[in-house]
Amino acid sequence: MKVGIFIPIGNNGWLISENAPQYKPTFELNKQIAQCAEAYGLDFLLSMIKLRGFGGKTEFWDHNLESFTLMAGLAAVTTKIKLFATAPSLALPPAIVARMASTIDSISNGRFGVNLVTGWQRPEYSQMGLWPGDEFFSTRYQYLAEYIQVLRDLWERGQSDFKGDHFTMDDCRLSPRPQAPMKVICAGQSDAGMAFSADHADYNFCFGKGINTPKAFAPAAQKLIQATEVSGRKVSTYVLMMVIADETDEAAWAKWEHYKAGVDEEAVAWLGVQGGADKTSGADTNVRQMADRTCAVNINMGTLVGSYAAVARMLDQVAEVEGTEGVLLTFDHFVEGVEAFGTRIQPLMTSRIDAHTPVPSQARNISAAVGA
Ligand SMILES: Cc1cc2nc3c(=O)[nH]c(=O)nc-3n(C[C@H](O)[C@H](O)[C@H](O)COP(=O)(O)O)c2cc1C
Repeated sequence: MKVGIFIPIGNNGWLISENAPQYKPTFELNKQIAQCAEAYGLDFLLSMIKLRGFGGKTEFWDHNLESFTLMAGLAAVTTKIKLFATAPSLALPPAIVARMASTIDSISNGRFGVNLVTGWQRPEYSQMGLWPGDEFFSTRYQYLAEYIQVLRDLWERGQSDFKGDHFTMDDCRLSPRPQAPMKVICAGQSDAGMAFSADHADYNFCFGKGINTPKAFAPAAQKLIQATEVSGRKVSTYVLMMVIADETDEAAWAKWEHYKAGVDEEAVAWLGVQGGADKTSGADTNVRQMADRTCAVNINMGTLVGSYAAVARMLDQVAEVEGTEGVLLTFDHFVEGVEAFGTRIQPLMTSRIDAHTPVPSQARNISAAVGA
């Protein structure tokens, strides 16, 4: 199974809690995490784009770096790990994204790909006059289908004359083109989002569900299998999970309970309003799941809580779900978390038997380098 890190491009990672580690996103922090992940043989890094936060006492996600420029920097300080940036399709024209991707492909020697998002929080775009109106909720994947057509034209042929409802290209050119095939992620879970992934993407990312229920996302993986049977393309599922691990189950659970007790209600309330704004895409979307009040402290992300051995066992169960190629991890504490994944969890995983795990002396050097 492939393993990637959803790097903390926004403050406080994915825990909306006064009791969680409080930190701002910096290049230095993300560089430490990237280099540590690479040293332990992890496969990829993804950064999101978030243009407006949730506020509250923790100022959740009010502080965010920009995804392409961050990944360009990380491309220059890594050598093996794959890198994905997120393109806000309402804010960046596809010809510019195609060229930025080509540039990072050059910096990284072919290790770069793009996560395409339609946007789901109106204020991210309305604050800069770029929200097309709420009817966009129902047309967003048609818009994205045109957008990716322009990208593919430019990446694959270096030229586009595409003419659609949203984009009109007039002998648009791109050179240099990327040296490696440009891989595309979509993280839609609505019917329209899955159909888009099946028709156009290489990977569909979905939310894990529940606490210590590593296979609970299986229906989303099945939905993608059915959608690809219609489209006839190979697209694989990756699942997003948070890991909260420690020496013992008790110690890990104590941390998780502590984070939950400190939930930032004001920020969570804002998420609830934004997540409920799309009345058109049905109940089974990632955004609806995020906004559910059951476990909003980590946006209802599937969470694995336990000893290193217990988390390793649960991650192996993730790998057993049909259609699943990889997992995208977040941590309560990213520097310690990636280090513990590399030294304590990964060596116990049968689904990572082929991964490069450094011998203890190398691991100590890595720990020293990242200051862990
Ligand atoms: C792993 C992952 C990464 C995502 N990254 C972003 C992002 O960077 N920016 C964003 O606006 N939405 C992001 N999303 C949200 C999705 O792109 C999508 O808008 C959301 O799942 C709603 O689509 P749906 O209605 O088709 O489910 C992400 C979702 C997942 C699961």
